[in-house]
Amino acid sequence: TSSVVETDVLIVGSGPAGASSALALSTLGISNMMITKYRWTANTPRAHITNQRAMEFFRDMGIEEQVLADATPHELIGDTVFCTSIAGEEIGRILTWGTHPARHADYQLASPTLNCDIPQNYLEPILVKNATMRGTQTRFSSEYISHTQDADGVTTQVLDRVTGVEYTVRSKYLIGADGARSLVADEIGLPFEGQMDIAGSMNITFKADIEEQVGHRPSVLYWVVQPGSNVGGIGAGLVRMVRPWNEWLIVWGYDINQPAPVVDTAAATQIVRNLLGMPELEVEITGTSLWGNNEYFATHLQKGRVFCAGDAIHRHPPSNGLGSNTSVQDSYNLAWKLAAVIRGQAGAELLETYSVERAPVARQIVTRANQSGREFGQLFEALGITTAKDEAEMIARIEERKDNTPAGAAKRAAIEAAMKIKNYEFNAHGVEMGQFYESSAVVSDGSTRPEPTRDPELYYQPSTVPGSPLPHVWVGSSQKKYSTLDLAPSTQFTIFTGLTGQAWADAAVDVAAKLGVTLKAVIIGPGLDTSDLYFDWARAREIDEDGVILVRPDKIIAWRSQSMVDDPAEALLGALASVLSRA
Ligand code: FDA
Repeated sequence: TSSVVETDVLIVGSGPAGASSALALSTLGISNMMITKYRWTANTPRAHITNQRAMEFFRDMGIEEQVLADATPHELIGDTVFCTSIAGEEIGRILTWGTHPARHADYQLASPTLNCDIPQNYLEPILVKNATMRGTQTRFSSEYISHTQDADGVTTQVLDRVTGVEYTVRSKYLIGADGARSLVADEIGLPFEGQMDIAGSMNITFKADIEEQVGHRPSVLYWVVQPGSNVGGIGAGLVRMVRPWNEWLIVWGYDINQPAPVVDTAAATQIVRNLLGMPELEVEITGTSLWGNNEYFATHLQKGRVFCAGDAIHRHPPSNGLGSNTSVQDSYNLAWKLAAVIRGQAGAELLETYSVERAPVARQIVTRANQSGREFGQLFEALGITTAKDEAEMIARIEERKDNTPAGAAKRAAIEAAMKIKNYEFNAHGVEMGQFYESSAVVSDGSTRPEPTRDPELYYQPSTVPGSPLPHVWVGSSQKKYSTLDLAPSTQFTIFTGLTGQAWADAAVDVAAKLGVTLKAVIIGPGLDTSDLYFDWARAREIDEDGVILVRPDKIIAWRSQSMVDDPAEALLGALASVLSRA
């Protein structure tokens, strides 16, 4: 006997992309089922740096506290060290992820929540648990085999790996969040640019308490430049904190054109002791795994009723920590659109905007992460080790940075310059926060984005030009304080206006009824529960007090009006109908 399971959205994969889709859809009350190949979630730490945009999604979903409870906090993640070994000499440090006092204000001003470090094997269970509690049918040991789609839906073959029995799922939509080897992306023939497997990396996880070596310079990342450690001719490895300060992961490059290295416990122990510079250290090796570095992104993300998200559409090295973060945001973008179309509140064309909005992001982050990886070359050049013949010469070249000579001074200057460039990997706040969309789900008011006043990769410049993320400021009363982001949750469309914009709020009631959507008004002004406590809203809004800003469920500004108009209901109706592909 064969049976057909029915659901509105079938999600393949329970990684950051799939589990975030499930969580967002269940939060919106959309029936969904998530299948995943293995018995449980990610079994290695994998992605970890969790940026403010991802944290804002978790905050919106009401799970920010749960994530923070399992995370290493912002204060402990940023004293990034470059050294010849953990116990050895330092080459230099860089304060990362906004922990430099001169950068910290930028991060605090940009968001109600700060970045943190949560390893993927801690994050996924939180996402999966909350999604499942809210309604997701989660099926482990369930493998996606193939699908077909027709005008009304998608029919997917799933293998239950416990029983060995195949079954069929019939859904309205399918999300392929099945990672860097995505079958779904293959099957729908997404167009890609770039290259897979350009370099090999090995992860070694281990336990060893080294607080004495690192507690005074707390960081997630300790970069070790170590001639003789035999990697890619140069010898560089990353010692990454998983749990402070007794669980670690080493990332180690290998030549992908050679047979994959075999690393047994003895070899792994030796690598750990070398990079730590602690030959006697008691080490418990807990695992090793190999993975490929890619520079590969899809230029179109969907076909008909099938969408891909996460590593399925953007594949790149961990540099900049963008993998999991971008995967979460793909899902945030897609979930409300699917919900609106499934509920009949939006035309199916709304779904086309997923690819229009997210494909440029995929290209941008894959390019950025790979460029950051390559920019490490500048440090190796500054140290003079790229042209060294052998290990002894490399060590001598690194030592030269201490010389009391003009050449020594030149080397010191070159190292300083090379380290400065690493801000584009470790403090690229603009890349993380400044995504901007142009699509039919954004209605232009004819304005253009203000010219960036600072480097747009390093610095985020909030704006209310349609297509921008809603700027964060604190508003509230003598009793309560809210972020503007808190006032625009994913379960609704939201308008923001001021006291003289009351007519917009009245119009919103009409428009909500006409379109059958949830549209709430937030009036910011004195005497209200949402007063402009610090006058920051007046400075951030870029419109007059009687203007209006319309915000989508994913907190992107959909439209704005500079000031009051003759017929606010008509203007608002026109804008929202257009966003929903109902115009
Ligand atoms: P992800 O790969 O997490 O999830 C894919 C999901 O699909 C899994 O649940 C899998 O079981 C499921 N699946 C696959 N095929 C299936 C099928 N046929 N049927 C059913 N289910 C299927 N990033 C970073 O920023 N820092 C880092 O240090 C690392 N380190 C790292 C190490 C290793 C070993 C890997 C493989 C990857 C990293 N990454 C990383 C990348 C980071 O992990 C990645 O960007 C995110 O996990 C992407 O999330 P997704 O949900 O898109 O895919």
